[in-house]
Amino acid sequence: MTESTTTTDLNLHNSRFLKACRREPVDTTPVWLMRQAGRYMAEYQALRQKYSILEIIKTPELAVEVTMQPLKAFNLDAAIIFADILPLLEGMGLNLEFIKGEGPVIHNPIRAPGDIDALQGPDPRESLAFTLNAVALARKELPGSVPLIGFSGAPFTLASYAIEGGSSRNYILTKTLMYEHPQAWHKLMDKLAWTVGEYLYAQAEAGAQALQLFDSWVGALAPVDYAEFVLPYVKQAIGRAREAGVPVIHFSTNTTSMLDLIQHAGSDVVSVDWRIDLQKAWQILGSEVALQGNLDPVTLFAPLPILKERVAAILDQVKDHPGFIFNLGHGILPQTPVEHVAALVDFVHAYKRG
Ligand code: CP3
Repeated sequence: MTESTTTTDLNLHNSRFLKACRREPVDTTPVWLMRQAGRYMAEYQALRQKYSILEIIKTPELAVEVTMQPLKAFNLDAAIIFADILPLLEGMGLNLEFIKGEGPVIHNPIRAPGDIDALQGPDPRESLAFTLNAVALARKELPGSVPLIGFSGAPFTLASYAIEGGSSRNYILTKTLMYEHPQAWHKLMDKLAWTVGEYLYAQAEAGAQALQLFDSWVGALAPVDYAEFVLPYVKQAIGRAREAGVPVIHFSTNTTSMLDLIQHAGSDVVSVDWRIDLQKAWQILGSEVALQGNLDPVTLFAPLPILKERVAAILDQVKDHPGFIFNLGHGILPQTPVEHVAALVDFVHAYKRG
């Protein structure tokens, strides 16, 4: 190892964000924002005039350019690689398209057990090589003290897109397949858990310092179904990712009633939404875990004094508890005023907890 990589490794290790993941004391609260690169930024919109979302994701130089946009604009404590959760499904044989105004569409969704048998199971090192290359390039271009987060969709959220063929409100097709064909469901989840675990591990190998698993829509399930049909697979994916030796953040929304189960999935950090008070979340999860969250993204539309009040209320709940990363409870929305994002980041850093 050269002297400069040693210094970089040490600077990364001592970053606020990674210290908080390890529940070590920090000088001030680290902050990054889910979906921090995207349409609310003019710089992103300008690039999207020229390229589609999939072109950006599949061209490492463009993906890295977008990854850096929010880092240049705000004083954030971590970068997240610009990618999406859905290209993983393309590698399995599903045809993905992002349609303007409609969102993601899978043209050949899974509807029967036979479709699950027919799924391909390629190594994500090959099918998602573009993102792994982007991770390696981003690591080179980022300042030496800024950690890079790699990510994947979680098995349930990925299955919901694969089965519904797009976004959904009630997940009728997903749940029906789960209840009618439990064996096929378990087979699908097993394939997804393996792919997700390998993909996360490979992102750490490529240069990511932390990994986040997005289970955005799993809150649609009853806890009893979560325990039987989902938890074993989240555990499997997180277990594999943690073998890479980097912290794993487990994100979900609408799962206040399932945090006791989520704790068993075994992540280093649990990301919670605004539907629960952080003190209560820690009571359920135990203090062996770090927390991330949990501002309602719509609060960013409020007048600045109200936004600041809400941020202070979150930080007052955390007090001097070690292991807290400030974030939103879900992704930043496209209409969000950019000045409020800048104010939020600075306010989190300036606020003295305890
Ligand atoms: O955080 C970051 O800066 C990294 C980028 C990122 C994207 N998608 C880029 C993107 C991340 C972390 C994701 C994750 C993702 N993708 C999730 C989990 C997080 C969450 O919000 O729940 C989900 C469910 C998806 C699936 C997805 N991708 C949808 C439903 C859509 C369309 C709706 C929407 O939010 O725009 C996308 C497209 C997408 N992925 C965009 C971006 C910036 C917008 C596409 C555009 O430029 O037109």
